[in-house]
Amino acid sequence: MFFDVPATVIVGAQWGDEGKGKIVDLLAQESDVVCRYQGGPNAGHTIIVDDETFKIRQVPSGVVSGKLSVIGAGCVVDPEVLLGELDQLTERGLEPNVVVSGNAHLIMPWHLAIDQASERRLGKLKIGTTRRGIGPAYADKASRIGIRIQDVLDAKILRQKIEVALAEKNIWLERVYDVEPFDLEAVASRYEGYAQRLRPYVGDVSLLVDRALRAGKDVLFEGGQGTLLDLDHGTYPFVTSSATVAANAATGIGIGPNRIDRIIGVAKAYVTRVGEGPFPTEIAGPDQERVRELGGEYGTVTGRERRCGWLDLVALRYAVRVNGITSLALTKLDVLSTFDRLPVCVRYRLRDGTETEDFPAHQSDFHAAEPVYEHLAGWRQPLDGDLPEAARAYVARVERELEVEISLVGTGADRKRVVALR
Ligand code: GDP
Ligand code: IMO
Ligand code: MG
Repeated sequence: MFFDVPATVIVGAQWGDEGKGKIVDLLAQESDVVCRYQGGPNAGHTIIVDDETFKIRQVPSGVVSGKLSVIGAGCVVDPEVLLGELDQLTERGLEPNVVVSGNAHLIMPWHLAIDQASERRLGKLKIGTTRRGIGPAYADKASRIGIRIQDVLDAKILRQKIEVALAEKNIWLERVYDVEPFDLEAVASRYEGYAQRLRPYVGDVSLLVDRALRAGKDVLFEGGQGTLLDLDHGTYPFVTSSATVAANAATGIGIGPNRIDRIIGVAKAYVTRVGEGPFPTEIAGPDQERVRELGGEYGTVTGRERRCGWLDLVALRYAVRVNGITSLALTKLDVLSTFDRLPVCVRYRLRDGTETEDFPAHQSDFHAAEPVYEHLAGWRQPLDGDLPEAARAYVARVERELEVEISLVGTGADRKRVVALR
């Protein structure tokens, strides 16, 4: 037993892949419902329980512990991925208990095609997306031409919506991107097939979560991606297409913000980033490869090498601010166990020579920011058992700088490899 878990948001405090899945899985042991509130199969959450590894993209991580797993209106859903994941989990002996909001938007085949073609076309200016159709699906949602989960429940509406969408998308695909158009019949029959299987999972998520909270149930809200990938508050345009910050847990599910009790930020003891975009503390030289190998930093969804950097307290202080983080889980501290000295970025030096502890509001300042490092002592011993003095000092320094408590420290990938500090 780690925690009493009332309504708690688990949010990535860096550029994603902080170990949210593991922390959600851990806290899910003590909770009743786990919800995803944004994003889609761009997420890749790895959960390791004893000798079993689960890699989950679309379903909330609570599914591994058999908890009611809810996909909110703020999510985008690829039905092929969702149904495939449910099949796989069932084959492995789990009994997924999943409810999907009828208001969540569908990722359609043209979203994948446009994501891929648009990245190709951008060339050197590409975002480095996961190519899962996330941006194009959210763009259609905002343009009010998206297709929602509830649309598949009525074959006539579904066909009509696909027809309307294809009339435009096919021109775009052929003339702008020079790729194959989609056939109405083929897409409609494929999605009618998904409809049959999706039907039992569709429900009123807002009502369900409201009732759970009223009944005093413990509800977890699992963020996808991370703060610096947030559409409004991240390093735009090198971001994802949804609001990843904690406040969106309320919007993405359909409850009031006053229902949230706690916000746990998840941060690695260093930083990684997949895809393009500025990254002040990215490690130059062989230590980058060393961290990548020690941390197994390869993407869950795309297999891409993750870029690795030293802990960035300026960016983390920003994440505490924009999410309202009430405590932090610091994961993968074990990965740093072989270093003599650990650089930690405490300030940025800006173009005009001034130094700041606050995340720059202007992108050009951020792009040009130089990290100012302090070097903390390493511990050079494995983290099994109580944390050694130097590791405790590392944690304490982060707490002091951020003025937020670190309640959990990750010391290995398995569910059990965690030290609860409070
Ligand atoms: P998420 O997207 O935030 O859920 O994170 P990912 O699952 O994509 O990436 C985190 C990786 O680190 C996964 O392979 C986890 O199994 C692993 N992991 C999580 N916590 C720890 C930890 O404390 N130590 C180590 N060594 N690995 C961890
Ligand atoms: P989890 O939930 C890390 C990154 C992509 C790219 C940018 C936009 O596992 O932490 P998108 O496909 O969303 O349009 O890509 O965002 N990205 C992630 N990076 N972890 C993720 O999810 C990510 N989801 C998207 O690499 O830079
Ligand atoms: Mg991930």
